[in-house]
Amino acid sequence: MPDPYRVWLSEVMLQQTTVAAVGPRFTAWVERWPDIASLAAAPDEAIMAAWAGLGYYARARNLVKAARAVVAEHGGQFPATEAGLRALPGLGAYTAAAVAAIAFGERAVVVDANVERVVARLFAIATPLPAARPAIRAATDRITPQARAGDFAQAMMDLGSAICTVKKPQCLLCPLAVDCRARVEGIADTLPAKAPR
Ligand code: ADE
Repeated sequence: MPDPYRVWLSEVMLQQTTVAAVGPRFTAWVERWPDIASLAAAPDEAIMAAWAGLGYYARARNLVKAARAVVAEHGGQFPATEAGLRALPGLGAYTAAAVAAIAFGERAVVVDANVERVVARLFAIATPLPAARPAIRAATDRITPQARAGDFAQAMMDLGSAICTVKKPQCLLCPLAVDCRARVEGIADTLPAKAPR
């Protein structure tokens, strides 16, 4: 199983920063702080400085809080379940599900903006966001496999970022094309709809 520390760190870095931008920063980070104990022991200022340029500094503050909680309250081992991870400070629903599935093999339902788009299209869920979220989550739950839920989640995210894109989805290249209701109905590029604001 992949190292939960690395999975968690990469998910947090990838929350609003592109894969290309995160790559070298991730490598440098794990060289400096190779595990949760070293990160938890690092001074706040060093961590905040190392985060520079990744943006959205609340993520770095939450990172420190979670690292220290894992060390202080869990003996330096990440909780191995989605519920346990969700209880850590600063770990949101997405991150807890992603780490549970990818690092621990739990059949967690992982929904980020990419998955949301793929699933809204696959089932032609036309309700606008955010009202569509419960239906999208329920549909994602139905198609999440018992085995390799982490691989499934990452495949869905990759599909959303590379092929099932917001604009001009490349349905001709999509492995789910034959099952995609939005494609059949010719409305893929309109979903998920957004409530007018
Ligand atoms: N974006 C953020 N986390 C990801 C992951 N684990 N796989 C693919 N894309 C991602």
